[in-house]
Amino acid sequence: MNAKTETTDHKGAADSVVEWHRHEGVVRLTVNRPKALNALNEEVIEALSAALDALESDAELRGVLITGAGEKAFVAGADITRMREQTAPQAHAFASRAQAVLKRLERLPVPVVALVNGFCLGGGCELALACDWAVASDNAVFGQPEVQLGIIPGFGGTQRLPRRVGPAMALDLITTGRKVDADEALRMGLVNQVMPQAALDTYAETLAGNLSANAPRAVGTAKRAVHDGMEQPLDSALALETSLFALCFAGDEQAEGMAAFVEKRPARF
Ligand code: CAA
Repeated sequence: MNAKTETTDHKGAADSVVEWHRHEGVVRLTVNRPKALNALNEEVIEALSAALDALESDAELRGVLITGAGEKAFVAGADITRMREQTAPQAHAFASRAQAVLKRLERLPVPVVALVNGFCLGGGCELALACDWAVASDNAVFGQPEVQLGIIPGFGGTQRLPRRVGPAMALDLITTGRKVDADEALRMGLVNQVMPQAALDTYAETLAGNLSANAPRAVGTAKRAVHDGMEQPLDSALALETSLFALCFAGDEQAEGMAAFVEKRPARF
Protein backbone atom coordinates (compact mmCIF):
# COMPACT_ATOMS: atom_id res chain seq x y z
CA MET A 1 0.00 0.00 0.00
CA ASN A 2 1.06 3.57 -0.48
CA ALA A 3 2.13 6.25 1.89
CA LYS A 4 -0.62 7.99 3.79
CA THR A 5 -0.59 11.21 1.80
CA GLU A 6 -0.68 9.72 -1.69
CA THR A 7 -3.58 9.28 -4.05
CA THR A 8 -3.49 6.08 -6.07
CA ASP A 9 -5.79 4.34 -8.53
CA HIS A 10 -5.56 0.58 -8.90
CA LYS A 11 -7.62 -0.12 -11.98
CA GLY A 12 -5.72 -3.27 -12.90
CA ALA A 13 -6.57 -4.70 -16.27
CA ALA A 14 -9.16 -2.97 -18.43
CA ASP A 15 -11.67 -5.63 -17.42
CA SER A 16 -10.95 -5.38 -13.67
CA VAL A 17 -14.22 -6.18 -11.88
CA VAL A 18 -13.26 -4.32 -8.69
CA GLU A 19 -11.43 -1.02 -9.09
CA TRP A 20 -9.90 0.77 -6.19
CA HIS A 21 -8.89 4.31 -5.54
CA ARG A 22 -6.92 5.34 -2.49
CA HIS A 23 -6.73 8.87 -1.14
CA GLU A 24 -4.65 9.16 1.99
CA GLY A 25 -5.97 6.47 4.33
CA VAL A 26 -9.36 5.95 2.69
CA VAL A 27 -9.90 3.36 -0.04
CA ARG A 28 -12.87 3.42 -2.40
CA LEU A 29 -13.76 0.07 -3.97
CA THR A 30 -15.95 0.15 -7.08
CA VAL A 31 -17.70 -2.97 -8.32
CA ASN A 32 -17.17 -2.65 -12.04
CA ARG A 33 -19.54 -4.67 -14.22
CA PRO A 34 -21.87 -1.88 -15.33
CA LYS A 35 -23.26 -3.84 -18.32
CA ALA A 36 -24.62 -6.42 -15.84
CA LEU A 37 -25.57 -3.69 -13.33
CA ASN A 38 -22.53 -4.76 -11.28
CA ALA A 39 -24.00 -8.19 -10.47
CA LEU A 40 -21.85 -10.27 -8.14
CA ASN A 41 -20.30 -13.32 -9.77
CA GLU A 42 -17.41 -15.46 -8.52
CA GLU A 43 -14.85 -13.12 -10.10
CA VAL A 44 -16.19 -10.10 -8.21
CA ILE A 45 -16.23 -12.04 -4.93
CA GLU A 46 -12.61 -13.14 -5.46
CA ALA A 47 -11.57 -9.61 -6.44
CA LEU A 48 -13.16 -8.30 -3.23
CA SER A 49 -11.29 -11.00 -1.32
CA ALA A 50 -8.00 -9.94 -2.92
CA ALA A 51 -8.72 -6.31 -2.01
CA LEU A 52 -9.38 -7.40 1.59
CA ASP A 53 -6.02 -9.20 1.69
CA ALA A 54 -4.39 -5.82 1.12
CA LEU A 55 -6.73 -3.80 3.34
CA GLU A 56 -6.41 -6.16 6.31
CA SER A 57 -2.64 -5.69 6.38
CA ASP A 58 -2.72 -1.92 5.85
CA ALA A 59 -1.73 -0.16 9.07
CA GLU A 60 -2.52 3.26 7.55
CA LEU A 61 -6.10 2.41 6.57
CA ARG A 62 -8.75 4.79 7.96
CA GLY A 63 -11.89 3.85 6.07
CA VAL A 64 -13.35 1.93 3.14
CA LEU A 65 -16.09 3.14 0.78
CA ILE A 66 -17.90 0.78 -1.58
CA THR A 67 -19.86 1.78 -4.64
CA GLY A 68 -20.91 0.55 -8.08
CA ALA A 69 -19.69 1.65 -11.50
CA GLY A 70 -21.98 3.80 -13.60
CA GLU A 71 -25.01 5.84 -12.61
CA LYS A 72 -27.66 3.13 -12.69
CA ALA A 73 -26.68 0.52 -10.13
CA PHE A 74 -24.82 -0.07 -6.93
CA VAL A 75 -25.14 -3.84 -7.31
CA ALA A 76 -28.29 -5.46 -8.78
CA GLY A 77 -27.73 -8.75 -6.97
CA ALA A 78 -25.85 -11.97 -7.32
CA ASP A 79 -25.36 -12.94 -10.96
CA ILE A 80 -28.56 -14.72 -12.01
CA THR A 81 -27.07 -16.07 -15.24
CA ARG A 82 -24.42 -17.91 -13.18
CA MET A 83 -26.80 -19.08 -10.44
CA ARG A 84 -29.22 -20.41 -13.02
CA GLU A 85 -26.82 -23.29 -13.75
CA GLN A 86 -25.87 -24.06 -10.15
CA THR A 87 -26.59 -27.30 -8.31
CA ALA A 88 -27.40 -27.24 -4.60
CA PRO A 89 -23.77 -28.01 -3.59
CA GLN A 90 -22.49 -25.32 -5.97
CA ALA A 91 -25.00 -22.83 -4.56
CA HIS A 92 -23.82 -23.74 -1.05
CA ALA A 93 -20.19 -23.11 -2.00
CA PHE A 94 -21.05 -19.81 -3.76
CA ALA A 95 -23.01 -18.47 -0.79
CA SER A 96 -20.44 -19.69 1.76
CA ARG A 97 -17.61 -18.01 -0.06
CA ALA A 98 -19.53 -14.74 -0.50
CA GLN A 99 -20.60 -14.77 3.15
CA ALA A 100 -17.00 -15.28 4.28
CA VAL A 101 -15.82 -12.35 2.16
CA LEU A 102 -18.63 -10.07 3.40
CA LYS A 103 -17.84 -11.06 7.00
CA ARG A 104 -14.20 -10.00 6.48
CA LEU A 105 -15.41 -6.70 5.03
CA GLU A 106 -17.69 -6.14 8.01
CA ARG A 107 -14.87 -6.90 10.44
CA LEU A 108 -12.28 -4.52 9.02
CA PRO A 109 -11.13 -2.36 11.96
CA VAL A 110 -12.18 0.84 10.15
CA PRO A 111 -15.60 2.19 9.13
CA VAL A 112 -16.87 0.60 5.92
CA VAL A 113 -19.55 2.67 4.16
CA ALA A 114 -21.75 1.81 1.18
CA LEU A 115 -22.29 4.65 -1.32
CA VAL A 116 -25.47 3.30 -2.92
CA ASN A 117 -25.73 4.91 -6.35
CA GLY A 118 -28.71 3.10 -7.89
CA PHE A 119 -30.20 -0.42 -7.85
CA CYS A 120 -29.28 -2.18 -4.61
CA LEU A 121 -31.01 -5.54 -4.86
CA GLY A 122 -30.50 -9.05 -3.51
CA GLY A 123 -26.79 -9.64 -3.03
CA GLY A 124 -26.25 -5.90 -3.56
CA CYS A 125 -28.44 -5.09 -0.58
CA GLU A 126 -26.55 -7.79 1.34
CA LEU A 127 -23.26 -6.13 0.40
CA ALA A 128 -24.61 -2.80 1.69
CA LEU A 129 -25.77 -4.52 4.90
CA ALA A 130 -22.25 -5.86 5.49
CA CYS A 131 -21.08 -2.23 5.54
CA ASP A 132 -21.27 -0.27 8.79
CA TRP A 133 -23.68 2.17 7.28
CA ALA A 134 -24.99 3.24 3.90
CA VAL A 135 -25.83 6.50 2.18
CA ALA A 136 -27.94 6.52 -0.95
CA SER A 137 -28.48 8.63 -4.01
CA ASP A 138 -32.09 9.69 -4.52
CA ASN A 139 -32.46 7.27 -7.47
CA ALA A 140 -31.50 4.24 -5.36
CA VAL A 141 -33.85 1.24 -5.23
CA PHE A 142 -33.58 -1.41 -2.53
CA GLY A 143 -34.98 -4.89 -2.21
CA GLN A 144 -34.49 -8.56 -1.53
CA PRO A 145 -36.39 -9.98 -4.53
CA GLU A 146 -34.98 -13.53 -4.25
CA VAL A 147 -38.37 -15.21 -3.66
CA GLN A 148 -39.38 -13.98 -7.11
CA LEU A 149 -36.57 -16.18 -8.44
CA GLY A 150 -37.47 -19.22 -6.34
CA ILE A 151 -34.67 -18.75 -3.80
CA ILE A 152 -33.98 -16.86 -0.57
CA PRO A 153 -31.25 -14.32 0.21
CA GLY A 154 -27.95 -16.18 0.55
CA PHE A 155 -25.31 -13.54 1.23
CA GLY A 156 -26.51 -12.71 4.76
CA GLY A 157 -29.79 -10.91 4.05
CA THR A 158 -32.01 -13.07 6.25
CA GLN A 159 -29.73 -12.29 9.21
CA ARG A 160 -28.36 -8.77 8.71
CA LEU A 161 -31.56 -7.17 7.36
CA PRO A 162 -33.63 -7.97 10.50
CA ARG A 163 -30.74 -6.75 12.65
CA ARG A 164 -30.69 -3.47 10.65
CA VAL A 165 -34.42 -2.73 10.23
CA GLY A 166 -36.16 -5.14 12.63
CA PRO A 167 -37.73 -8.54 11.89
CA ALA A 168 -41.17 -7.33 10.75
CA MET A 169 -39.81 -4.95 8.11
CA ALA A 170 -37.20 -7.51 7.04
CA LEU A 171 -39.86 -10.19 6.62
CA ASP A 172 -42.01 -7.73 4.67
CA LEU A 173 -39.17 -7.08 2.21
CA ILE A 174 -37.90 -10.66 2.03
CA THR A 175 -41.25 -12.43 1.65
CA THR A 176 -42.87 -9.96 -0.73
CA GLY A 177 -39.73 -9.10 -2.70
CA ARG A 178 -41.07 -5.57 -3.00
CA LYS A 179 -38.68 -2.79 -3.92
CA VAL A 180 -38.41 0.42 -1.91
CA ASP A 181 -37.10 3.80 -2.93
CA ALA A 182 -34.37 5.73 -1.14
CA ASP A 183 -36.78 7.72 1.03
CA GLU A 184 -38.48 4.58 2.33
CA ALA A 185 -35.07 2.99 2.90
CA LEU A 186 -34.17 6.06 4.95
CA ARG A 187 -37.36 5.86 7.01
CA MET A 188 -36.74 2.20 7.86
CA GLY A 189 -33.10 2.79 8.84
CA LEU A 190 -31.63 0.84 5.96
CA VAL A 191 -29.63 3.93 4.94
CA ASN A 192 -28.42 6.86 7.03
CA GLN A 193 -28.78 9.66 4.47
CA VAL A 194 -30.22 10.30 1.00
CA MET A 195 -28.69 12.83 -1.38
CA PRO A 196 -28.58 13.67 -5.09
CA GLN A 197 -26.27 11.32 -6.97
CA ALA A 198 -23.89 14.20 -7.76
CA ALA A 199 -23.46 14.82 -4.01
CA LEU A 200 -22.11 11.34 -3.23
CA ASP A 201 -18.55 12.32 -4.13
CA THR A 202 -18.61 15.36 -1.85
CA TYR A 203 -20.03 13.23 0.96
CA ALA A 204 -17.22 10.71 0.40
CA GLU A 205 -14.55 13.41 0.53
CA THR A 206 -15.96 14.95 3.72
CA LEU A 207 -16.28 11.54 5.33
CA ALA A 208 -12.71 10.62 4.36
CA GLY A 209 -11.48 13.84 6.00
CA ASN A 210 -13.44 13.14 9.19
CA LEU A 211 -12.25 9.54 9.40
CA SER A 212 -8.64 10.53 8.80
CA ALA A 213 -8.73 13.15 11.58
CA ASN A 214 -9.97 10.88 14.38
CA ALA A 215 -7.90 8.57 16.58
CA PRO A 216 -7.62 5.38 14.50
CA ARG A 217 -7.34 2.84 17.31
CA ALA A 218 -10.26 4.47 19.13
CA VAL A 219 -12.37 4.26 15.95
CA GLY A 220 -11.50 0.57 15.50
CA THR A 221 -12.16 -0.14 19.17
CA ALA A 222 -15.55 1.60 19.00
CA LYS A 223 -16.48 -0.47 15.96
CA ARG A 224 -15.45 -3.66 17.75
CA ALA A 225 -17.50 -2.69 20.82
CA VAL A 226 -20.63 -2.21 18.69
CA HIS A 227 -20.25 -5.36 16.56
CA ASP A 228 -19.14 -7.71 19.36
CA GLY A 229 -21.60 -6.17 21.81
CA MET A 230 -24.58 -6.66 19.46
CA GLU A 231 -23.95 -10.41 19.57
CA GLN A 232 -24.07 -10.58 23.40
CA PRO A 233 -26.60 -10.09 26.20
CA LEU A 234 -26.63 -6.50 27.50
CA ASP A 235 -24.73 -7.17 30.74
CA SER A 236 -21.76 -8.84 29.06
CA ALA A 237 -21.86 -6.29 26.25
CA LEU A 238 -21.63 -3.47 28.81
CA ALA A 239 -18.73 -5.28 30.51
CA LEU A 240 -17.03 -5.49 27.12
CA GLU A 241 -17.49 -1.74 26.66
CA THR A 242 -15.96 -1.06 30.08
CA SER A 243 -12.90 -3.17 29.25
CA LEU A 244 -12.41 -1.56 25.86
CA PHE A 245 -12.95 1.91 27.33
CA ALA A 246 -10.24 1.25 29.91
CA LEU A 247 -7.93 -0.14 27.23
CA CYS A 248 -8.02 3.24 25.50
CA PHE A 249 -6.25 4.72 28.54
CA ALA A 250 -3.34 2.33 28.09
CA GLY A 251 -2.45 3.72 24.66
CA ASP A 252 -1.00 7.01 23.45
CA GLU A 253 -4.13 8.23 21.62
CA GLN A 254 -5.94 9.15 24.84
CA ALA A 255 -2.92 11.12 26.09
CA GLU A 256 -2.60 13.02 22.82
CA GLY A 257 -6.34 13.63 22.34
CA MET A 258 -6.85 15.00 25.85
CA ALA A 259 -3.61 17.00 25.86
CA ALA A 260 -4.65 18.60 22.57
CA PHE A 261 -8.02 19.58 24.05
CA VAL A 262 -6.43 21.17 27.13
CA GLU A 263 -3.75 22.91 25.04
CA LYS A 264 -6.42 24.16 22.57
CA ARG A 265 -4.72 22.67 19.49
CA PRO A 266 -5.72 20.00 16.96
CA ALA A 267 -4.82 16.46 18.01
CA ARG A 268 -2.14 14.64 16.00
CA PHE A 269 -2.98 10.96 15.69
N1 CAA B 1 -27.61 -10.89 -12.55
C1 CAA B 1 -27.17 -10.94 -13.81
N2 CAA B 1 -27.43 -9.97 -14.73
C2 CAA B 1 -28.15 -8.92 -14.30
C3 CAA B 1 -28.63 -8.81 -12.99
C4 CAA B 1 -28.32 -9.86 -12.08
N3 CAA B 1 -28.70 -9.83 -10.79
N4 CAA B 1 -29.33 -7.67 -12.87
C5 CAA B 1 -29.29 -7.08 -14.08
N5 CAA B 1 -28.58 -7.83 -14.95
C6 CAA B 1 -28.29 -7.54 -16.34
C7 CAA B 1 -29.51 -7.79 -17.22
O1 CAA B 1 -29.67 -9.16 -17.52
C8 CAA B 1 -29.18 -6.95 -18.42
O2 CAA B 1 -28.26 -7.66 -19.22
P1 CAA B 1 -28.44 -7.69 -20.84
O3 CAA B 1 -28.27 -6.25 -21.25
O4 CAA B 1 -27.32 -8.57 -21.28
O5 CAA B 1 -29.80 -8.22 -21.10
C9 CAA B 1 -28.44 -5.76 -17.83
O6 CAA B 1 -28.01 -6.18 -16.53
C10 CAA B 1 -29.32 -4.54 -17.64
O7 CAA B 1 -30.45 -4.93 -16.90
P2 CAA B 1 -31.96 -4.70 -17.40
O8 CAA B 1 -32.02 -4.61 -18.89
O9 CAA B 1 -32.82 -5.71 -16.73
O10 CAA B 1 -32.22 -3.24 -16.81
P3 CAA B 1 -33.62 -2.62 -16.37
O11 CAA B 1 -33.36 -1.18 -16.09
O12 CAA B 1 -34.69 -2.97 -17.30
O13 CAA B 1 -33.95 -3.36 -14.96
C11 CAA B 1 -33.45 -4.22 -12.77
C12 CAA B 1 -33.10 -3.18 -13.87
C13 CAA B 1 -34.85 -3.94 -12.20
C14 CAA B 1 -32.41 -4.07 -11.65
C15 CAA B 1 -33.41 -5.63 -13.38
O14 CAA B 1 -32.18 -5.80 -14.08
C16 CAA B 1 -33.52 -6.74 -12.37
O15 CAA B 1 -34.59 -7.02 -11.88
N6 CAA B 1 -32.38 -7.40 -12.05
C17 CAA B 1 -32.35 -8.53 -11.15
C18 CAA B 1 -32.51 -8.08 -9.71
C19 CAA B 1 -32.55 -9.30 -8.80
O16 CAA B 1 -33.43 -10.11 -8.86
N7 CAA B 1 -31.54 -9.40 -7.90
C20 CAA B 1 -31.43 -10.50 -6.96
C21 CAA B 1 -30.58 -11.59 -7.52
S1 CAA B 1 -30.61 -13.05 -6.55
C22 CAA B 1 -29.49 -12.79 -5.32
O17 CAA B 1 -28.88 -11.74 -5.20
C23 CAA B 1 -29.31 -13.96 -4.41
C24 CAA B 1 -28.54 -13.70 -3.19
O18 CAA B 1 -29.00 -13.25 -2.19
C25 CAA B 1 -27.14 -14.10 -3.13
